[in-house]
Amino acid sequence: MRLILIGPPGVGKGTQAVLLQEKLGVKPLSSGEIFRKEIEAETDLGRLAKSYIDRGELVPSGITIEMMGKRIRADEVRKSGFVLDGFPRTIRQAEALDKMLDEMDMRLDKVISLEVDDEVVIERLSGRMSCTKCGEIYHLEAKPPKREDLCDKCNGPLFLRSDDKPETIRERLKVFHENTAPVIEYYAGRECLLRINAEGDPSEVFQAILDGCK
Ligand code: AP5
Ligand code: MG
Repeated sequence: MRLILIGPPGVGKGTQAVLLQEKLGVKPLSSGEIFRKEIEAETDLGRLAKSYIDRGELVPSGITIEMMGKRIRADEVRKSGFVLDGFPRTIRQAEALDKMLDEMDMRLDKVISLEVDDEVVIERLSGRMSCTKCGEIYHLEAKPPKREDLCDKCNGPLFLRSDDKPETIRERLKVFHENTAPVIEYYAGRECLLRINAEGDPSEVFQAILDGCK
């Protein structure tokens, strides 16, 4: 299957992408995760991306489209299908994705829009921790790790994302409403758009996605 998860920061895109990978075998491609790996590896792309991410702004679309295009076109991803998390985030990116898929003679199965109020986003992001090694996502209240600051799955140390500061979260939300909400409208005329109320716990949201993908 070829899926997109779209929604505000902290709505649970990364959480659902992992569940979809486990259930459907689709490859998760998170633009944010890819940028964070580049930052950690101190590459030129990482340095450039960091200057935008730390301010809660979008990395320029040209660079992002090229980076995601390489991965979407990879043989392994053509076979497994994908779940895009955080891409496309602008109309320009959505048009570029359409062009890419057309060239490969492929169609999107579902564009899954995860929807919650802004206050829920702030709650979710204020308690998030992620594993430095395997990327597993935790939450102080909704999904606490069994041992403080260590990953249940791989024992890796947990970290707080540098863009989860209150002022950066506010900017990310503003950027979502201005740039990414129109992308949901872009897909609204197509049968593939699936709107999901994402206020329930992760397993309820996941079940709603699976029901909508039948
Ligand atoms: P990115 O990494 O994509 O960040 P984001 O969109 O802001 O989303 P998050 O990763 O913060 O949240 P999420 O929806 O994945 O939620 P999660 O599952 O972690 O992008 C970061 C930055 O990179 C951007 O700001 C931008 O600068 C740049 N960038 C990325 N893509 C780009 C693009 N295409 N173009 C340009 N720039 C780009 O869950 C959050 C928390 O909630 C966790 O603690 C989790 O345990 C908890 N949780 C999840 N689901 C539930 C639930 N149902 N109930 C209760 N708690 C829950
Ligand atoms: Mg994420």
